[in-house]
Amino acid sequence: MASKHFLSLLDLTGDEFEQLIARAIELKSLQKKHILHQPLQGKMLAMVFDKSSTRTRVSFETGMTQLGGNSMFLSPRDTQLGRGEPIEDTARVLSRMVDVVVIRTDKHRTVETFAEYSSVPVINALTDRFHPCQLLADIQTYQEHRGSIVGKRVAWVGDGNNVCHSWMNAAKLLGFQLAIATPKGYEPDNDMVSATKQHIEMTTDPKAAVKDADIVVTDTWASMGQEQEKSQREQAFAGYQVTTALMQLAKPDALFMHCLPAYRGYEVSADVIDGPQSVVWDEAENRLHAQKALLEFLLLAK
Ligand code: CP
Ligand code: NVA
Repeated sequence: MASKHFLSLLDLTGDEFEQLIARAIELKSLQKKHILHQPLQGKMLAMVFDKSSTRTRVSFETGMTQLGGNSMFLSPRDTQLGRGEPIEDTARVLSRMVDVVVIRTDKHRTVETFAEYSSVPVINALTDRFHPCQLLADIQTYQEHRGSIVGKRVAWVGDGNNVCHSWMNAAKLLGFQLAIATPKGYEPDNDMVSATKQHIEMTTDPKAAVKDADIVVTDTWASMGQEQEKSQREQAFAGYQVTTALMQLAKPDALFMHCLPAYRGYEVSADVIDGPQSVVWDEAENRLHAQKALLEFLLLAK
C-alpha cells in the first residue's frame, strides 16, 4: 500500500482532522502526567530543513523522542542535497533507511516530488504554499480555550501567505468562516481563493475582517526568503498591524493567534501579543502534542 503523506491539510478528511486534535489533547494530558507512551520505539525520523526553524525542529525532535523513536536533522549544508543530488534520488535513499521524513523547503513542488519518490510518509514542515502542521496546533489551541471551531468567525489580517493558505484549507475542512484582510497585491493565491470561496471573505479593510471575530490571526509581513522585500512590504502593510484598538472590534472573548516568530511593532503590537487575549505560547507548545498525534496517525494507523 502507498504511504500516507501530510503535504497539506487536504490530505486529511474533516473527521481525521478532528480525531487528530482529540488525540493531541490526550497525548498532552499523558505527557503532563509523566506517563510514558512509546509506540514508535525503533522508528527513525529524518528532518530535511532548507530554512531556519525553532518550533518545528524542536517539536518534531522532542515529539519523536517522547514517542520512543529517534530523529536526525539534515541540513543541505552537510548533505549531498546541498551539492546538487536530485531530490528524487535523496527521497529513494532516505526512505530505504528511515520510517518518516519531515521537510521544510521553499517550493511546494519539491515536497510533492519527494513524496512521489518516497516509500515512507512525508510531512510538510512549511513550504511557500502551506504550513499544515501549524494549523493542527492552532485548532487544538482554539478547542482547548473555547471548544469547537465549527461555525466560528476567524479574521486573518496581513499577508496572504503559506499560513493563510493553511487557514483557508482548515476553514473548508472543518467548516468555519475566514475573513481575510490583505493589502492589494498580497492576496492569497487565486486557486486557493476559488477552492475555498464558500468559507472565505476577502477585503482590504482589517476592521471589516475583524468585526465580531472569534479569533484574530496574523503572521510576519516578510516570510523566509522575502528578506529583500522587507522595506517595500513594511510600506504596503502599514495599517495592517493588529493593535488593541483593532482587537476591540472582535468579540469580547476573541483570541489572538500568531504562528511565531513575531515582530512586535510590525504585524502586531506588543500589548496585543503579550496581552490577555493572546494564546501564542499555547500554540507553540501544541506543535509538540499535535505533531505527536500526526506521527502516530501516519506511522501506526491501519
Ligand atoms: N511557527 C513555526 O513554524 O516556527 P519555526 O519557524 O520556529 O519552526
Ligand atoms: N510565513 C512565515 C511562517 C514562519 C513559521 C514564513 O514562511 O516564513
